[in-house]
Amino acid sequence: MTRKPFICGNWKLNHGLVETQAVLRAMAAEASTYSSVELAIAPVTPLLAAAAQVLQGSALGLAAQNVHHQDKGAFTGEWACHHLSELNVGYAIVGHSERRQYFGETSAAVGQKVRACLDNNLVPIACIGESLQEREAGQIWDVLKNQMDPITAAVQPDEAHRLVVAYEPVWAIGTGKTASAAQAQEVHAQLRSWLAGAFGEDVAERVRLQYGGSVKPSNALELLSEKDVDGALVGGASLQADTFLGIAAAAFELA
Ligand code: PGA
Repeated sequence: MTRKPFICGNWKLNHGLVETQAVLRAMAAEASTYSSVELAIAPVTPLLAAAAQVLQGSALGLAAQNVHHQDKGAFTGEWACHHLSELNVGYAIVGHSERRQYFGETSAAVGQKVRACLDNNLVPIACIGESLQEREAGQIWDVLKNQMDPITAAVQPDEAHRLVVAYEPVWAIGTGKTASAAQAQEVHAQLRSWLAGAFGEDVAERVRLQYGGSVKPSNALELLSEKDVDGALVGGASLQADTFLGIAAAAFELA
């Protein structure tokens, strides 16, 4: 089974309008070189419309960093999946560890967001990951399973191939500490076996599993070489075109 590698940049709370347009323009100019790799960037939400204009007709996709699960209603400060689709945003990152940690997003809420994405033709990039404390206490599999269960419960087997799961060990995010390729592969193999339990082997083989946490051009090739590492969710190294494209190039070399 070949899964199309998928590299998504998460800009978090970075880049204003001028930088967003400039960096996206530089990335879009090169994106079609890596045609066997799916590429997307998640800028700050208020700039998605401007970003969509820059990326019109390009091979670089757009992602949102978050989304609300309801379509409309009294939810001040939120936005819905259909608002993203209207702007040609194809993906939504849900359950990022920073959302869980700073904004109290629960695993149950992440499941609802995954469901809303699938109902609205958005690809959910559902994030899971353990903290260092949890890893050292030997709780990694319990923690990851508890985060995965509401995600798999929200998805029907016939649509599960559209799901993307990003494994992002919290201790590797923005710290410069990357999980070793073997550590990433160990977790990804376990995730795929849980997916097989939920949806059957054939479907599990189609689900793309991204690794995230200090991915950069210098370590991308090694991480992406692992059998079950199908892409990357990239923070810091996605802020500039050359480093993001360096990671795309590594994926392209392997695809
Ligand atoms: P990082 O962030 O690449 O800067 O570690 C990854 C993420 O939070 O998605």
